[in-house]
Amino acid sequence: MSTKEKVYDILKESGSNFISGEEIANRIYVTRAAVWKAIKSLEKEDIKIEAITNKGYRLMETEKIINKAAIFNEINTEYAEFEYLKDIHIEAFQTVGSTNDLAREYANNGEKEAVFIADCQTKGRGRKGRDFYSPTSTGLYMSFLLFPHTDFAHATNYTCMAAECICRAIKKVTGIDTKIKWVNDIYYNDKKIAGILTEGIASLEDGRLSHVIIGAGINIYTPYDGFPDDIKKKAGALLANNVDSEVRDRLAGAIIGEFYKSYKEPDKYPFFEGYKEKSMLVGNYVKILPYGDSKEKNDYALVTGIDDECRLLIKYEDGRTDALSSGEVSVVKY
Ligand code: BTN
Repeated sequence: MSTKEKVYDILKESGSNFISGEEIANRIYVTRAAVWKAIKSLEKEDIKIEAITNKGYRLMETEKIINKAAIFNEINTEYAEFEYLKDIHIEAFQTVGSTNDLAREYANNGEKEAVFIADCQTKGRGRKGRDFYSPTSTGLYMSFLLFPHTDFAHATNYTCMAAECICRAIKKVTGIDTKIKWVNDIYYNDKKIAGILTEGIASLEDGRLSHVIIGAGINIYTPYDGFPDDIKKKAGALLANNVDSEVRDRLAGAIIGEFYKSYKEPDKYPFFEGYKEKSMLVGNYVKILPYGDSKEKNDYALVTGIDDECRLLIKYEDGRTDALSSGEVSVVKY
């Protein structure tokens, strides 16, 4: 392998991190001048390299395209026996405001299920009115538009179903075991790597849902410039930045496959046991934070389980028990 190739490999491996000329030189036993020469020849081959004094070098970000053919390839090879996936409507975009908003607009066109996927969102939304940081090339942002003809009360079940199916898909494609923090966050190595926002429209007359939109945002790689300050303690990524970018398309295909299996054939592919097994709160103490003023403030309790309506079962220190719905409270692991 030439010095140029070795330098390129090291830059790729470092992903979004800068690496100094000296460190590269030490790692491949050449002089710093030889590293500099190699960098210049890489640039002549149109490889874009960022060089900053006192920091070193890194490869410049290149936009990674969402590849719809690769997504269908995963579906058609791994989920070939599931007829309902054959004509699933998928729309893939580079940059959108929010895939949940696209799905909502599409819902006005009639009852056609669809999946919207984007590389980047400029107005990504999270729960509780928060923004969801959705930079280009490192995440996967997708929304399922469904017409389940069921009661509004079941909407939380779809959130839990999506969380469990995303974990299953991650395991299938990357071999990584992830955990679920009730109700909709996915964790890996104690960092949040994915969140889910379920939105729906229900009729006031009969409480039935006219449609449901399940939006999931997954941090596959660390964003090129890191996570913003307000989330950087909590947020993490699934994979190191040098792992093959095809993983993202495969993962999108597997999430669609796993989700549709549980959605269309709930008895054959139930999600609930898996959801409970992956729950990182059961057996732990939590601090309960109210939405509004409906519950006692900042109470502490032991999580004893999750019931089949996806409510968190808790026991307060004084022995009282309760079943919490996701719309009423949020909890922090204590
Ligand atoms: C959360 O963790 O608070 C939920 C985040 C949900 C983000 C996803 S990304 C795809 C879809 N589009 C959005 O605007 N939000 C959801």
